[in-house]
Amino acid sequence: QGSLKQVQKLLSAHEASYLQSLRTCPKLEPPVNGRKLGKSHSVGHEVHFVCDPGFELVGPESRVCQESLTWNGQQTACRYINECASSPCLNGGTCVDEVNHFFCVCAKGWSGVTCQSPLQTYIDECELFHNGQAGKLCLHACVNTPGGYRCSCPAGYNVTRDGRSCKDIDECATRQNNCTKDQTCINTYGSFQCVRVDCPKIPNATYVKTSPMRCERNPCSVDNKACSQAPNSFSYHYLAVVSNLSAPRVMFRVSAMRPIGDTLRFSLLGGRQARRHFTVQRSDRVTGQLMLVSPVQGPATLEAEVEMSELERRVPLGRYITKVTMFVSQYEF
Ligand SMILES: *[C@@H]1O[C@H](CO)[C@@H](O)[C@H](O)[C@H]1NC(C)=O
Ligand SMILES: *[C@@H]1O[C@H](CO)[C@@H](O)[C@H](O)[C@H]1NC(C)=O
Ligand SMILES: *[C@@H]1O[C@H](CO)[C@@H](O)[C@H](O)[C@H]1NC(C)=O
Ligand SMILES: *[C@@H]1O[C@H](CO)[C@@H](O)[C@H](O)[C@H]1NC(C)=O
Repeated sequence: QGSLKQVQKLLSAHEASYLQSLRTCPKLEPPVNGRKLGKSHSVGHEVHFVCDPGFELVGPESRVCQESLTWNGQQTACRYINECASSPCLNGGTCVDEVNHFFCVCAKGWSGVTCQSPLQTYIDECELFHNGQAGKLCLHACVNTPGGYRCSCPAGYNVTRDGRSCKDIDECATRQNNCTKDQTCINTYGSFQCVRVDCPKIPNATYVKTSPMRCERNPCSVDNKACSQAPNSFSYHYLAVVSNLSAPRVMFRVSAMRPIGDTLRFSLLGGRQARRHFTVQRSDRVTGQLMLVSPVQGPATLEAEVEMSELERRVPLGRYITKVTMFVSQYEF
């Protein structure tokens, strides 16, 4: 009795699923320019849609056959994709749409996939550079070449690796200078200078060179007041800077190594030219700094002297002169 009931149960389940498979929705056509995936149209089954290349789906991507024997959702279609709709061609180019891609017919003087590049034969880069449209192509000068351009630099500079800037050649390091043995080579931006330190001639005082850039006073005899009032030392410094350096800025610092007095004073010596461009300030108790106060247009050579005097109870103990020579290049690089 029990097993009979089980067989009956199984049969009615089979029958139910058979009857269910007979309940179908109407046949569904694939969209034009597309395909339908899934063959069963029975209740509860799902079909999917895909479009051919160059077309995009409008409407649901899938539909389900419902208990009411109708498909849910709206009818699906495949719409042609217009690659030109976003106006991809630049500079007056005309867009031609093809299945799955587009191409541009460029206006005269332009080339590239989207007509983005000026044609060399019609527009040269250096001209663009002058008009400022292409930004600054070259730091110094632009030279047209067949099919392109290159940057050039003034004498004394090499073009940098990126081809656009100029790098100073260190003539002092590369032996491209003609300084003599008793001269010191100072590399400057775009050139070099040969300098030679000669100790100053001051009445009643004599100086001796203690290093290539320094002179010190020989001991004075006790009765020689003029000698003991002369500066104890002269130091020489050479700076190379580019033209039109922004100001104010510190150019040089002078410090007392072992101050012996109770007071140190720093002051600027030199003529009107030095005062026009420089000033001297104290930066801490033992240090004075030479400041550039206004931009200098090169080429130019400026000189300034910083005097440091030591005092003890207002009695001068010594004077130390630092001569700074500044070589300003012709260019801002
Ligand atoms: C600069 O360029 C020249 C060639 O134009 C080359 O001979 C020289 O070695 C370069 N100098 C430096 C310092 O790179
Ligand atoms: C060194 O060379 C420069 C040119 O580079 C020239 O003007 C100058 O007279 C030369 N100086 C000496 C001492 O030969
Ligand atoms: C320089 O020294 C001499 C003696 O050696 C002296 O007669 C003269 O007055 C001194 N000159 C000055 C300016 O002190
Ligand atoms: C100097 O530099 C300033 C900007 O720092 C610039 O405005 C000015 O034109 C430059 N002067 C010259 C003569 O190049």
